[in-house]
Amino acid sequence: MYAFWLWREFKLSLWEIHQLFPKVEIEYADKSICIVNTQDKDLILSQLPRIWGTIKVMELIPWYRWKPELSILDFAQKHEGKYAYWLSVFGWEKNLKSILIETKKTLKAKWISSRFVNKDFKSLSSAQIIGENLVTKSSDFNIIIADDIEYFARTIWVQDIEAYGKRDYGKTRDMQVGMLPPKLSQMMINISEWNKVYDPFCGLWTILIESILMGNAEVYWSDISAENIEKTKKNISYARREFDNNLKTSMTQILDAKWISSSPFLKKSDVIVTEGYLGQVFTKKTVSKTAIADEKKLLLDIYTKFFEWLKRSNYSWVIVICFPFWEVLWIYNYFDEVYEVIKKYAKNLPILPPHDDFKHTKSWSLLYKRPDQVVGREIFKLKIKK
Ligand SMILES: C[S@@+](CC[C@H](N)C(=O)[O-])C[C@H]1O[C@@H](n2cnc3c(N)ncnc32)[C@H](O)[C@@H]1O
Repeated sequence: MYAFWLWREFKLSLWEIHQLFPKVEIEYADKSICIVNTQDKDLILSQLPRIWGTIKVMELIPWYRWKPELSILDFAQKHEGKYAYWLSVFGWEKNLKSILIETKKTLKAKWISSRFVNKDFKSLSSAQIIGENLVTKSSDFNIIIADDIEYFARTIWVQDIEAYGKRDYGKTRDMQVGMLPPKLSQMMINISEWNKVYDPFCGLWTILIESILMGNAEVYWSDISAENIEKTKKNISYARREFDNNLKTSMTQILDAKWISSSPFLKKSDVIVTEGYLGQVFTKKTVSKTAIADEKKLLLDIYTKFFEWLKRSNYSWVIVICFPFWEVLWIYNYFDEVYEVIKKYAKNLPILPPHDDFKHTKSWSLLYKRPDQVVGREIFKLKIKK
């Protein structure tokens, strides 16, 4: 069995795990941990380069007998030289301090010189785990308490958060357009399950750049703004130059997505993944219910035509798309009007694995919002009705 330490937006993480391992049963899930029931380590390892909503992956040790110090001793005995290890606890707080002290005593009794890396008896961040090289040394350990069952696990993979820094460096930035967080883009691509991505509201290309970094060979993109198309071209050159990639086809044109049926890319691509247009960028000072109502009218016009013409084009591939919602005085205002459009032209595809505790929103979507931003993203996986 394997456990995944989930990202802050844990429902999106669960969605991604379910998508990447559709045949694997989810044994347990809460807001931070998901345990899957498989012995197929090769399968788990094969998908890890694609996974973004997981902080680390742990292999559960079957012979654990509720004595973490003895399990750590098993590993330490196979090690040469001073043994550095790390222990984290998930679930209700065990007394980490006493476990660490007990472990040190147990190792010492067997003449093993050791050091626990935990500072102030706290759990580690993934950057620290990478810094200390603990995964390669097989010495990042975890106690996981799930539904009153205690598991012991060894970390086999950690997300390289540092790599995200490189994503933004050198890219043409424009705060007015707003950037989709790379992690969310990657997860939306994973959720779409397909490879030849078309983004008809490409903005500055976050979806496409991530699609290329994930090894996809074809990308298609359009936007109403000639200026953004030009900036995006620069970003493509940047990606081609700076990152390993298999990109063979990259095609673009200026296009108002209201008239999506005239896009040649509907036939060339095999999925639409897009953030969509979220409307004007509001701040806490400029947002109000009236301003949102006006913005919704503009957006509704775009999306009504967008879906109507997809339907008329008999578009049959999956669409993964975000719509905006806005926080005004601590209350979320949803884009209810667009739900009617979706209902008329499309059907929702389920995105979460079947699980009693975790539900989609009423509109079968998942939400993503940074606490400091007014606008959030409501993410849907859709298919046009026949
Ligand atoms: C929120 S941005 C997308 C940002 C992009 N996901 C990124 O991370 O760079 C929305 C984009 O939609 C474009 N847009 C607005 N209305 C449009 C329309 N009717 N048709 C096509 N593109 C449109 C804007 O020019 C803008 O580039």
